[in-house]
Amino acid sequence: MLFFFFTWFLFIQDVGSTSVERSTYIVHMDKSLMPKAFTSHHGWYSSTVDSLKPTIPIVTTTSSQYSTTPPRLIYTYNNVAHGFCALLSQDELESLKKSLGFVSAYNDKQIKLRTTHTPEFLSLNPSTGLWPASDYGKDVIVGLVDSGVWPESLSFRDDGMRTSPIPAKWKGTCEVGQEFNASMCNSKLIGARYFNKGLIGARPNITISMNSARDTDGHGTHTASTAAGNFVESASFFGYAEGIARGLAPRARLAVYKIFWDEGAHESDFLAGIDQAVADGVDILSLSFGYDWDVPFYENTIAIACFGAMESGVFVSHAGGNTGPGYLSIFDSIPWTTTVAAGSIDRSFAGMLTLGNGLSFTGWTMFPASALVEKLPLIYNKTISSCDSVELLKNVYSAIVICVDKGYDVFNQLRVISMSNVAAAIFISNEIFETTSDFPWPGVVISSKDGPAVINYAKTSDRPWASMKFKQTMVGTKPAPAVASYSSRGPSRTYTGILKPDLVAPGSLVLAAWIPSNSVAMIGSNIYLSNDYTMLSGTSMACPHVAGVAALLKGAHPEWSPAAIRSAMMTTANPLDNTNNPIRDLGNNLTFASSLAVGSGHIDPNRALDPGLVYDTPPQDYVNVLCYMNYTQKQILTVTRSNRYNCSTPSPDLNYPSFIALYNNNSAIHTFQRTLTNVGDGVATYNAEVIAPTGSKVTISPMTLIFDRIYDQKSYTMSIEYESGLNETTRYGSLVWVDTNRTHTVRSPIVLTPVVTY
Ligand SMILES: *[C@@H]1O[C@H](CO)[C@@H](O)[C@H](O)[C@H]1NC(C)=O
Ligand SMILES: *[C@@H]1O[C@H](CO)[C@@H](O)[C@H](O)[C@H]1NC(C)=O
Ligand SMILES: *[C@@H]1O[C@H](CO)[C@@H](O)[C@H](O)[C@H]1NC(C)=O
Ligand SMILES: *[C@@H]1O[C@H](CO)[C@@H](O)[C@H](O)[C@H]1NC(C)=O
Ligand SMILES: *[C@@H]1O[C@H](CO)[C@@H](O)[C@H](O)[C@H]1NC(C)=O
Ligand SMILES: *[C@@H]1O[C@H](CO)[C@@H](O)[C@H](O)[C@H]1NC(C)=O
Ligand SMILES: *[C@@H]1O[C@H](CO)[C@@H](O)[C@H](O)[C@H]1NC(C)=O
Ligand SMILES: *[C@@H]1O[C@H](CO)[C@@H](O)[C@H](O)[C@H]1NC(C)=O
Ligand SMILES: *[C@@H]1O[C@H](CO)[C@@H](O)[C@H](O)[C@H]1NC(C)=O
Repeated sequence: MLFFFFTWFLFIQDVGSTSVERSTYIVHMDKSLMPKAFTSHHGWYSSTVDSLKPTIPIVTTTSSQYSTTPPRLIYTYNNVAHGFCALLSQDELESLKKSLGFVSAYNDKQIKLRTTHTPEFLSLNPSTGLWPASDYGKDVIVGLVDSGVWPESLSFRDDGMRTSPIPAKWKGTCEVGQEFNASMCNSKLIGARYFNKGLIGARPNITISMNSARDTDGHGTHTASTAAGNFVESASFFGYAEGIARGLAPRARLAVYKIFWDEGAHESDFLAGIDQAVADGVDILSLSFGYDWDVPFYENTIAIACFGAMESGVFVSHAGGNTGPGYLSIFDSIPWTTTVAAGSIDRSFAGMLTLGNGLSFTGWTMFPASALVEKLPLIYNKTISSCDSVELLKNVYSAIVICVDKGYDVFNQLRVISMSNVAAAIFISNEIFETTSDFPWPGVVISSKDGPAVINYAKTSDRPWASMKFKQTMVGTKPAPAVASYSSRGPSRTYTGILKPDLVAPGSLVLAAWIPSNSVAMIGSNIYLSNDYTMLSGTSMACPHVAGVAALLKGAHPEWSPAAIRSAMMTTANPLDNTNNPIRDLGNNLTFASSLAVGSGHIDPNRALDPGLVYDTPPQDYVNVLCYMNYTQKQILTVTRSNRYNCSTPSPDLNYPSFIALYNNNSAIHTFQRTLTNVGDGVATYNAEVIAPTGSKVTISPMTLIFDRIYDQKSYTMSIEYESGLNETTRYGSLVWVDTNRTHTVRSPIVLTPVVTY
């Protein structure tokens, strides 16, 4: 089960036959047109809304009652968006559209949410590389927009941080609320706020079960501790994955913005959260949620908010989604954020099976307790070995049964076993357990290679018996990482001209902090266990890893822009796994993964510290793409908020660290223009090394770039040429800029894929 895959549904009202009901709209305004009579945006917006006097009795969608009250302003936005959220009828919306400064409006939509070992897996090391270079992210502020925080978690203690003052630029606060007072923040958790006016506006009668930044779900606590949790001795999931828990940036400051509620999640609340986070002074944002359907950028609140964040220099890590493994399964992938795919970790959880004849086997298990399975009778009976009904097992007591995979998968067999009187089970199956930590009964899963020896012993021995031991953790599992099957794949549905996702980070079975009030495991069908740490899987878990690494890079290089940080991570990402072969794909039978699944590869933090060169991307580049997409001036203004940008140079492409060309049946040449900035010290000479996608020819001009000093910029063109008759397959290549003594390799994937129609 993918644990993070919670869905928060917007409360969709029953719309009656009448057209005068009210619902919540997000309205974007052109602030440059604000009349001089107003001293603040707030005054202007509230006067605009007040002027929409109802002419007929209104039925509000939420209470189904006639109302003669004026339409109501819920939020005003002034940083990452210019405009407001208001409860409006269709008629009021129509008259608002004629108001001065109106740009666009759309319905308030729903949004969906989408580690002890991971720092070592990423080779983060206290004595060398990115951890010491950044002082563990000291003084970088990471904002988590999620389901809040459990402030008592050990991961959010400020041990070792109290002596250094909170950065002076910080303007945030620790908002008081239900079971949350200001003394729950400290030098680690420096801010906590909550946003639910949009939710309440749409459903006035709602009772918010925990009206504060306190997390009653667990998702927010997990992601926050992954990005920037402090050091915690001996955290584990019931003995599995035991070790020192800490986030990727253990000394960074954390600020949480709660927008996901047990009762639902509205994008108006999300927009208010980001608007505030940017004003508060966060450096990094981690967003583990998104839309699982096509939303154009001008109606995608996440895209809109992140554009403003990017302009303010805030790096945004965004979960790529869990809708894989199909081609074109990535939704709302935003050019100005870093889009994160999920991969596996080189860790597995084992149980030891020992037979009466002395043979022993290592199997897979996550049974969360220390059950005594010592010298119990072992039963192999072909009839019952399907383990698919409790009825079949009714005569087995206090024995170990062998279950064979006959198409009824292990987790269903496990559920049946957990309702029987069987003491423990041995499951013979080659299933790969990517995401689950749900193992409610004693048992181990062994491979079909080991199966025959166990069955043979059970069949031929007089009084066969076996023992089991649980809670063993093995690291160094190969191959790892592998891209997770659920991780969403490109090309991007919103705009195919940019390769998404950008890179892979650990996402499967990530151990991080949890809340005490939600159970994390079960024994049988009615014993629920709680724990301070739990393992979850999803791009939701991969996203805060990238946010944490970005915090470290920001700490080491405070002058780098969000695009420079992204470029450093992408061009140094590793396309190979721990067997030195290309990263494999758990969603495609462990064949080599496509760049449409892994982007540039797996994040390699220490190498990102010193990338040599970066592709920096000025905001106008993104606007040029929006212009190329034929967005109207108002649609573009909705995203950009200002007339600072124009459409004089529309472009299908931008200064991005990766390449994607879409082919149809005709021969063609695609040309890409790129500019590299030297962030290494002093003079450097780089040469291009190219692997062309099969069936194409790639030309780089010039093939050598000479940089005279730090921040020197040099441009090149890459053209990819192909004949007609490429079949429908996707082909891959790469361009690597290598300096003379090979200290820096600046790699970009090249993807050649058929033109997409959907
Ligand atoms: C909301 O509350 C009002 C006043 O208490 C009540 O009359 C109304 O029926 C409630 N509406 C819904 C949808 O529950
Ligand atoms: C905040 O709450 C904690 C725990 O309930 C309590 O110990 C503490 O005294 C409270 N602080 C203030 C300032 O109210
Ligand atoms: C196997 O199980 C079936 C169903 O419970 C039972 O009828 C049969 O006798 C068992 N066979 C042996 C050899 O125990
Ligand atoms: C996966 O690979 C195995 C071994 O090569 C093969 O037997 C099996 O049919 C493949 N499954 C799929 C779904 O491609
Ligand atoms: C934009 O519009 C022009 C003119 O109608 C058209 O040729 C072009 O294909 C459109 N571009 C995109 C990306 O849809
Ligand atoms: C568009 O923007 C560019 C760069 O900011 C500027 O040089 C140019 O004059 C602008 N063009 C128009 C028509 O405003
Ligand atoms: C491309 O060619 C193939 C085979 O000749 C044909 O089946 C397909 O429809 C063509 N596609 C387009 C977009 O013309
Ligand atoms: C590689 O070359 C750069 C300058 O081009 C120099 O600064 C660096 O020390 C060299 N590294 C090694 C290992 O020779
Ligand atoms: C397409 O071409 C590739 C490489 O030439 C080849 O491996 C593949 O089998 C071909 N696929 C089809 C459907 O013809």
